[in-house]
Amino acid sequence: MFSKPLLDVLTGRKPDRRPLWLMRQAGRYLPEYREIRSKSKNFLNMCLTPDLATEVTLQPLRRFDLDAAILFADILLVPLAMGVALDFREGEGPVLERIESKKIDRLSYDSQKLAPVFETIRRVKQDLPEKKTLIGFCGAPWTVACYMIDGTSKKNFIEAKRWSLDQPESLDLLIDRITQASETYLAAQIDAGVEVVQIFDSWAGLLQGDAFMRFVIEPTRQLVMRLKKRFPHIPIIGFPREAGDGYSPYIRETGVDALGLDPFVDLQKAKIELQPIKPLQGNLDPALLLRGGEEMKGALENIMTLMGPNHILNLGHGVLPQTPVEHVSELVRIVREFES
Ligand code: CP3
Repeated sequence: MFSKPLLDVLTGRKPDRRPLWLMRQAGRYLPEYREIRSKSKNFLNMCLTPDLATEVTLQPLRRFDLDAAILFADILLVPLAMGVALDFREGEGPVLERIESKKIDRLSYDSQKLAPVFETIRRVKQDLPEKKTLIGFCGAPWTVACYMIDGTSKKNFIEAKRWSLDQPESLDLLIDRITQASETYLAAQIDAGVEVVQIFDSWAGLLQGDAFMRFVIEPTRQLVMRLKKRFPHIPIIGFPREAGDGYSPYIRETGVDALGLDPFVDLQKAKIELQPIKPLQGNLDPALLLRGGEEMKGALENIMTLMGPNHILNLGHGVLPQTPVEHVSELVRIVREFES
C-alpha cells in the first residue's frame, strides 16, 4: 500500500510530506483548459462529457506536483438534477430558474442525469497515480439554496436571506430536499471511487447566530451524519467560507473530519482554537498567488511554519482565472523545498 499524504492527514496519520492541492486547480488559468473549453459547446456540456471532464480533472496533476485531483464538475449540478433549469453564460456566471416556495414539493432529484459525472470518476481513478487522492464534492445545502432562490449571485443572495427571516419553514423544506439530494449524489461519487469529499459552503458568511445554526450547521451535520453511517472511512472536509466566529461551532458540531479556512481567518487564532480539534486546510489568499514573488513566498512560509506538517496546504478560495501558470509552479516549488 502506498501512503497518500492527503488521506494520511485526514485520518490522523503522519504524512510523508505536506499534502498540497488547490481549489479550482482545474480552470481558466491553464492554457490546456482554455483549449478544451473553447472546443466544447459550453461549460455544462464539459462537466457532463466524461472524456472532457476526465482530461480536465487530470490536467493540473500533469503540470504540478500536487497530492490530489478534484473532480471536474460544479455544485450547481445538484439543482440541475433536481429539475431546475441552469445556464452558464459567458462572463456572467450561472443563471438558474428561481424556485418559488410553493413549488418546492415538485423538486425531484434524478441521479441518472448525473451518470456522466460518476463515469468521469471511474475514468480518473484508472489514470490516477498511486500516491494521489481523488476528491469529490458538493455544495452545502445553504449555498445551493442561495443559488436556487436568487437565481444568480448578482444581488448577494438577498432573496435567500429574506427567506431565512420571512419564511424560515420554506427554507427548511428546500434545504431538506437539497440535503437529501446531496447525500445521494455524494454516495454515488463515493461508490464510483472518490476517496475524500469536500462540502463547499461558499455563502456561509451571509448568516449569523441562530440562522447560521439552523441553515448552515444543522443541515451540514445531517449530511455528514448520514454519509458517515454509510461510509465511515471516507473523510469529509467542510469549507464554511467567511463564517468568522462560526468556524468554531462548525468544527465542533457538524462532524466534518477537517476544516477549510478562508483567507480572513487569523491563523494564530486557528492554531490555538481549531487545530487541536481537527486538521485544517488553507488559507493562502488567491490574490497572493496571482501576485507571486516574495509576498507569496513569505505568506506560504508563514503558513507552513505556524501550522506544521499536518496542515493541508491550499488557498483560502479558488485559483483566480488571471493567475499566471508560473506562479502556481512557484508555489509548488516553495512548498516542496520547504520540507527538504
Ligand atoms: O478545480 C476545481 O476546483 C473543481 C471544479 C469546480 C468548479 N466549480 C468548476 C468551475 C468546483 C469544486 C466548483 C465549485 C463551485 N461552483 C462553487 C464553490 C466554490 C466557490 O468557488 O465558492 C461555486 C459557488 C460554484 C458555482 C459556480 N460555477 C460559479 C459561481 C461559477 C462562475 C464563476 C466563474 O468562476 O466563472 C461557476 C463556473 C465554473 N465552475 C468554472 C469552473 C472551472 C468556470 C467555468 C468556465 O470555464 O467558464
